[in-house]
Amino acid sequence: MNHPQYAHPNPERVFPMFYYGCDYYPEHRPESFWEEDARRMQEAGFNVVRIGEFAWARIEPTEGRYDWGWLDRAIETLYRYGMRVVLGTPTAAPPPWLVAAHPEILPVDMYRRVRHAGSRRHYCPNSPTYQEYTRRIVTALAERYGADERVIGWQIDNEFGCHDTGRCYCDVCAARFREWLRERYGTPEALNEAWGTVFWSAVYRSWDEIPLPWAAPAEHNPAHLLDFLRFGTDSFRRYQQLQIDILRERAPGQFITHNYMPFPSRELDFYDLAAPLDFVSWDNYHFYGATPALVAATHDLYWGMKARNYWVMEQQVSQVNWAPYNPVFRPGEVGLKVWQAVAHGADGILYFAWRSTTRGAEIYHSGLLDYDNRPTRGYEEARQIGQALPRLAPYLEGSTPPAEVAILHDYASRWSLDIQPHNRDLADDETFRRALMGPYEALWARNVPVHILRAAPETDLSAYKLVILPALNLVGPELARRLGDYVQGGGTLIATARTGFKDESGRVPGQPPGYLAELLGVKVAEFDSLPPDRRNSVRFVYGPIGSVPVSLWMEVLQPTGARPLAVYEGDFYAGKPAATVLAQGRGRALYVGVLAGAEFYGPLLDWLLPQLGIHSPLATPEGVEAKVRVGPRGRVLFLLNHNDRPARVFLPTPATDVVTGERWAGERELGAREVRVLLIATGPQ
Ligand code: GLA
Ligand code: ZN
Repeated sequence: MNHPQYAHPNPERVFPMFYYGCDYYPEHRPESFWEEDARRMQEAGFNVVRIGEFAWARIEPTEGRYDWGWLDRAIETLYRYGMRVVLGTPTAAPPPWLVAAHPEILPVDMYRRVRHAGSRRHYCPNSPTYQEYTRRIVTALAERYGADERVIGWQIDNEFGCHDTGRCYCDVCAARFREWLRERYGTPEALNEAWGTVFWSAVYRSWDEIPLPWAAPAEHNPAHLLDFLRFGTDSFRRYQQLQIDILRERAPGQFITHNYMPFPSRELDFYDLAAPLDFVSWDNYHFYGATPALVAATHDLYWGMKARNYWVMEQQVSQVNWAPYNPVFRPGEVGLKVWQAVAHGADGILYFAWRSTTRGAEIYHSGLLDYDNRPTRGYEEARQIGQALPRLAPYLEGSTPPAEVAILHDYASRWSLDIQPHNRDLADDETFRRALMGPYEALWARNVPVHILRAAPETDLSAYKLVILPALNLVGPELARRLGDYVQGGGTLIATARTGFKDESGRVPGQPPGYLAELLGVKVAEFDSLPPDRRNSVRFVYGPIGSVPVSLWMEVLQPTGARPLAVYEGDFYAGKPAATVLAQGRGRALYVGVLAGAEFYGPLLDWLLPQLGIHSPLATPEGVEAKVRVGPRGRVLFLLNHNDRPARVFLPTPATDVVTGERWAGERELGAREVRVLLIATGPQ
């Protein structure tokens, strides 16, 4: 029986409708469970299920012998209840027989210790042996299911880089790394020049002399580390491509995606890995310490990965098993997280997982069904959403989240700051987190939508009135030129502290902000890296904005054409600029020399946004998110109350609740964690 709501996707149109379902492990329970599972999934309104990404040992119990029966029957059972399947290529967990026969596939850490089997992700992407076994299993799967209309697409592997597996230090990787360096630099002399190996007399006469950055007595050359991280991404990009080549040939009508991890994951450059995919997906876990704004930013990161809608391949149901603390979801939180994802451009939601597992490493992880196979609170919320979706799906088709503000993001810049944080409290990505979430939280609190895009010369910025560079540590001449054109053409640019400190090779091109110094009209005379107990404050030169506390990182700015926008209030540099602004061509370039939060960017944006004609679609109380998706059938406003208490929202123009059909106008109350989905305009937008 075909599911009444949804047609089979067309290869050229990945999103003909909304996909809704779960991550399912038929291999975890006897087949006698499957019929009832599928019935309950259909009852919840599901039309898609992901299976198989950790099933290599069940698909190929011994080398060359495949057991397809169970998988065929699982797919058939799901299809009979109106669900289609996303098949995972099972390469994130090579089976024991493979490791026993070929231990050389195992990854190696920086101390040259083997990282053993028994869990997952225990493989080196450069291992020729593992690449060959990967070709075999993916070919076998693609030959069997590549033309099967019950299978709509493929997830390659699972969370590349997870468990800190973005880098391998084995001898195969060492040889590949040297070849990679030869291709990148041409001669050892060019590499020595780019890396500055004369420092600490590390001048290499030949490629063979270049080590992997194995554990060493003191700090490695940062350029060496940066290139090794780039090599790690290139290793996985090539490893992924061998799977994609097989699927494109044998499964041409089925989409290919991968499931990425939440902020602050940066094990690999996910832009490079996402390039050949049809769309991206990510695993939406609100881990301990995250905030609704950080989750929103992650949605915007993954929408911006390909500037198109995406899926949530794993949607948290309640507690996870891997965080420092693992609270259960509060009533309404499943809906809050799901509708927030949809509001930010998700066209697919799959819950992780269908059922709590009674064995294995994730025994403590929540599922839609509990250990006794009973529906949980999460299942009930998922079922209500499943009933609402068919009413909303027509308005979602072809709709996207618009934005006039772009934040540029770059993994290599984050790696560079990881390599040299220059402040203990700014290590582990904290510089980037502050520099991104400072402006992002201020924009989010004002319901000003944002796209987070790759910081690259080819990224088109013409649609954006404001572009923000959050600690974009590496800026080369080409990107600097593109940003200059953007500002000259009328754009407004905000560069934050530590932006432009190095060029792409990791060399300091001159006093910061380096290649952006001329565009910004400022030089960083000194950067003061302070312990947390030595604070300062800044006050704006314009407007009635009081002083704002700042900590950890303060750049003493020397305008070379720009004028002060804010000045320090304390220390020997009191009165000196902490932020500047310069009119350039038809635009403006701002530089913010502190790592400030929303308390700084809020007043700054309240001063700046009206000048740029950027307006919030709706003012809401703190913790209530208003987000719009726009498409051929109209504008849909999502009102999300992230608070644990009711909040009152004023809607200036009447709207229709898409789910209940109610008319909405004026002031209404949103309950704790309540969501409303409102049609605020109909017809093409
Ligand atoms: C990740 C993985 C899943 C599972 C979940 C648990 O997203 O992709 O296999 O481990 O985390 O939250
Ligand atoms: Zn290796």
